[in-house]
Amino acid sequence: MSALIDHRYLITPGGALRGSVRVPGDKSISHRSIMLAALAEGRTQVSGFLEGADALATLAAFRAMGVAIDGPDRGELLIEGVGLRGLRAPHTVLDMGNSGTAMRLLAGLLAGQGFTATLVGDDSLTRRPMRRVTEPLALMGAQILTSPSGTAPLTIAPVAQLRGIEYRLPMASAQVKSCLMLAGLYAEGETCIIEPEPTRDHTERMLTAFGYSVRRHGLRVCLSGGGRLTACRLSIPADISSAAFFLVGASIAPGSDLLLEAVGINPTRVGVINILRAMGADIELLDKRTAGGEPVADIRVKSARLRGIQIPVDQVPLAIDEFPAIFIAAACAEGETVLTGAAELRVKESDRIQVMADGLAQLGIQADPTPDGIRIQGGTLGSASGEQAIHAHGDHRIAMSFAIAGLRASGPIEIRDCANVETSFPGFPQLAARAGLGIDEQRPQ
Ligand code: S3P
Repeated sequence: MSALIDHRYLITPGGALRGSVRVPGDKSISHRSIMLAALAEGRTQVSGFLEGADALATLAAFRAMGVAIDGPDRGELLIEGVGLRGLRAPHTVLDMGNSGTAMRLLAGLLAGQGFTATLVGDDSLTRRPMRRVTEPLALMGAQILTSPSGTAPLTIAPVAQLRGIEYRLPMASAQVKSCLMLAGLYAEGETCIIEPEPTRDHTERMLTAFGYSVRRHGLRVCLSGGGRLTACRLSIPADISSAAFFLVGASIAPGSDLLLEAVGINPTRVGVINILRAMGADIELLDKRTAGGEPVADIRVKSARLRGIQIPVDQVPLAIDEFPAIFIAAACAEGETVLTGAAELRVKESDRIQVMADGLAQLGIQADPTPDGIRIQGGTLGSASGEQAIHAHGDHRIAMSFAIAGLRASGPIEIRDCANVETSFPGFPQLAARAGLGIDEQRPQ
């Protein structure tokens, strides 16, 4: 037998999700907590930080630029802010690993520094488009070198002064918006970004929490350079993107009744709840409250009969990371689910439309990709193992989606190339097993 060369999940079919779980901290907010706390004046205390590889890459980058950070220790961090002008030139390239958020947001932040820095990433990140940030940053006066195809490595050189711009985003992207806002902190005058549709607004909320003035009118968000950030306390909610696997899992597995604790329910992130409810899911939001400027609730989800729907296009940016899980719900629903307006899914950690369509087809589900979406016919999930194992293509959310599919599969599911689950959800197999999923891990020797 040949030696195992990748990290695999082996899923035993059936089961139900029950009890109460707290999924790890929000990835988007964890990245931003390091960035803004580092640029603030004073010491920021963070709790609920995601100790996954992506956010840890951001943390390491700021340490490399001279920021003293204590932790993480069970999600707690102490960050000694150095002020907007206090970062130091790193001695090595900054490795962003698998994280598009880290690379794109840092590109904006570094464009305003007085030193040169180079950002690199893994194979997946090195294939992802970066011109969406380097082009508007160039309009602000930034000097950034990319590969000839507009991808990483990015080398960002100092310039005398960035200038504010008004920029209409060509796609709904919180990463591009946030990148330009971070560059805007260093720009002369006002930087305004106009979004085609609302996207996650964690940067705006957190800048406000650090005392920086951000002005929003409808889809237009503006800030002026030259202000200051003041340290504060941040409490990071559990990540709705990680909770999504459990929302879908408990919905599709008969006999489930699960409580997800302290999940972020920012209105720009709740597309998955809206879409699953439209499909017939039984989801209740309990004890709504606010933590660190972000709305939070406990979420109770029980199994339900799902039906296929036409997914409203206005929900797409609000559920952009949850579609792999939603596709599993669609595969278990009665009738057809149709997604359009989601071409961005093709440039995530993998081409999530194609990779999900391939995996669903292996499980016997009819799934027809289109340029900007997919059509999925609900049916019976079969099995996939050995030579026929599902390939996650190193994409954390693909791996976890097919893992929860096992709750409704008629046979075992084996998933290859799952190591990157660590990027967003350390401890996923253990937590999912505790809730009732039959999951075993095989790590390479
Ligand atoms: C993120 C924005 C989204 C999302 C990503 C995190 C962020 O990307 O897919 O996982 O933290 O700003 P886009 O801005 O490319 O849509």
